[in-house]
Amino acid sequence: MSAHRIIFLNQKGGVGKTTTCVNLGSSLCAMGYKVLLVDFDSQGNLTGAVSGDGRKPTMYDVIVGRVTAQDAVQETPFQNLFLIPGSIDLAGLNVELVGEEDNNYFLKKRLAELDSQFDFIFVDCPPSLGVITMNALAWAESIIIPMQCEYFSMEGLNLLMRTVSNVRKGLNPDIRILGILFTMFSKRSRLNAEVIQDTSSFFPDLVFKTVIPRSVRLAEAPSYGLPINVYDISNAGTKAYSSLAREVVDRL
Ligand SMILES: Nc1ncnc2c1ncn2[C@@H]1O[C@H](COP(=O)(O)OP(=O)(O)O)[C@@H](O)[C@H]1O
Ligand SMILES: [Mg+2]
Repeated sequence: MSAHRIIFLNQKGGVGKTTTCVNLGSSLCAMGYKVLLVDFDSQGNLTGAVSGDGRKPTMYDVIVGRVTAQDAVQETPFQNLFLIPGSIDLAGLNVELVGEEDNNYFLKKRLAELDSQFDFIFVDCPPSLGVITMNALAWAESIIIPMQCEYFSMEGLNLLMRTVSNVRKGLNPDIRILGILFTMFSKRSRLNAEVIQDTSSFFPDLVFKTVIPRSVRLAEAPSYGLPINVYDISNAGTKAYSSLAREVVDRL
């Protein structure tokens, strides 16, 4: 067994990367898969969202070689769900890694030993295309791009597509985009529906059929440290993320 290595990528913040990482992960766990979540954002939002506390060692310690990735894996209160926490020190990596040789391949080297132990390893990226995200791109097998259903999102998407095609030319020739995921969809907004339609006609094979609705419960759940399928099993967000999980499995 070798884990599917997926990253959640968008240089824009607040588009649902972390929310998707947690809740897709938790939905896959509910299907019986063993999932490791890696918090690679100095904000540590992913860590809090699964009741993690950023207790050391964190991803920072793993990247700088203070501990092995194996030693940094923590259990969560949720069955089949594991975490390597993030912490504020990750912000320093942008500077610390600059002079290092092969500085884009640290994550790949450090996480390699975990491949045989999980069905999925998810890395939650920060909202930038700096050295941390480049490390994630060098390591990943595939990318999920969460996006809000707004017109301004589409410009960002073009930049992302260019970035990924550059990554394929050097850093990681085998990486692929698993899908574009629309988040925070509001049924009442005609604009939301138009953006999804336009993007789908432009990238017909990429846009996931599942759309994540805007839901207060999805926004509340991380403040209790709970994935949505634990916090509110009957919520529309729970259904959406489990439908996304089935789509993801079908696309692998
Ligand atoms: N479908 C949704 N409905 C309502 N709020 C959401 C939804 N998805 C995410 N949010 C909220 O929007 C904010 C940004 O989401 P987040 O996943 O942290 O984005 P990112 O990781 O891309 O910065 C968070 O407060 C989150 O709880
Ligand atoms: Mg985030």
